[in-house]
Amino acid sequence: MLSISFRHMPARITTALALTLLASGAIAQSSDPIKVGLMLPTSGTFAELGKTVVNGFKLYVSENGGKLAGRTVQYVELDDESDPSKANENANKLVKRDRVDVLVGTIHSGVAMTMARVARDTNTLMIVPNAGAAEITGAMCAPNVFRTSFSNWQPGYASGLLAARKHKTAVTISWKYAAGDESVRGFREGFEKGGGKVIKDLNLPFPNVEFQPLLTELATIKPEAAYVFVAGAGQVKFVRDYAAAGLKNNIPLYGAFITEGTLAAQGESASGLQTALHYADGLKNPKNDAFIASYKNTFNATPDVFAVQGYDAAQLFAAGLNAVKGDTKKKAEMIKAMEIAKLESPRGPLSFSKSHNPIQDMYARVATGNQNVMTDVIVKALADPSPDCKI
Ligand code: BEZ
Repeated sequence: MLSISFRHMPARITTALALTLLASGAIAQSSDPIKVGLMLPTSGTFAELGKTVVNGFKLYVSENGGKLAGRTVQYVELDDESDPSKANENANKLVKRDRVDVLVGTIHSGVAMTMARVARDTNTLMIVPNAGAAEITGAMCAPNVFRTSFSNWQPGYASGLLAARKHKTAVTISWKYAAGDESVRGFREGFEKGGGKVIKDLNLPFPNVEFQPLLTELATIKPEAAYVFVAGAGQVKFVRDYAAAGLKNNIPLYGAFITEGTLAAQGESASGLQTALHYADGLKNPKNDAFIASYKNTFNATPDVFAVQGYDAAQLFAAGLNAVKGDTKKKAEMIKAMEIAKLESPRGPLSFSKSHNPIQDMYARVATGNQNVMTDVIVKALADPSPDCKI
């Protein structure tokens, strides 16, 4: 360890020397806090999802005494409103004004794509704790951008395989934006692989919740099954409207997120719905048992997949920081450590593909009381093919 006495030097020289040493990395930064930029929604349709991601991230940090790699963590938080038109300005505020060490966000694919562009252009480390936009770990993939959630294709594809176990025809309903389009594309691929056929795609603009005209059209088409991608506050209304329209017992409804974290609000309308996701309530593994207990103890609430994704974002960041003993200037070494990280996630084993997207098991679940209960594993260690990623 380098040790220098500044006591007998003129101030002008000590300042210059200190700056030089800092720039060369000879002085560890252990006394400075690590700045984490949390760019997530605290308002609008995805507010609850944003809150839960943040809870998960902070839980991991507080379990580690409020520090990562020995450095205190300081949060800079910003409501992105799930509004893509404000994403560039918001991300730049965190990167250029607040000079965060890592950009964490967000829920909405459109917002996250702009954030990833800013992160790539400024070489800022970024971890995506939800948004599944294909581009982020596809054509736009970058060494400094990681995702701890899913690509929209993954749960869509697993849902398609699940629905194809029982049905031959399906209609899809989705919000018309990147996540909806990609989720439906994944569903179609899985459903057709299982021998089914998607006969019509219906959609409406994000975050519109006037579902009635689409439900009327669906009832006229009479497919064997339906697949929906809406999320957050929208999914509560959709599932209730679906049951109220008398469709629940006639056209079985499938989805990925439609019952996640909202069963209490959906009540009987969600009972028995089948979904495919990379987490399930009460999943049996020691990490999940400890995670659920710790989350309940801290927030007096039950965690869901969004909390898991936030928790794992912090775990992944810690893996990078630990490898460089907290010295964030050693970015290449941090990235290397994050790339090869094998995390013990509450969802099960979690590692990363070469495009920095999760490789994870996809579970079939059925809504039973207040739980999305796992019935079986649909696909083990599912990786997004990411053919357009050239890292
Ligand atoms: C997305 O925009 O990627 C997204 C939003 C909510 C849930 C899942 C995906």
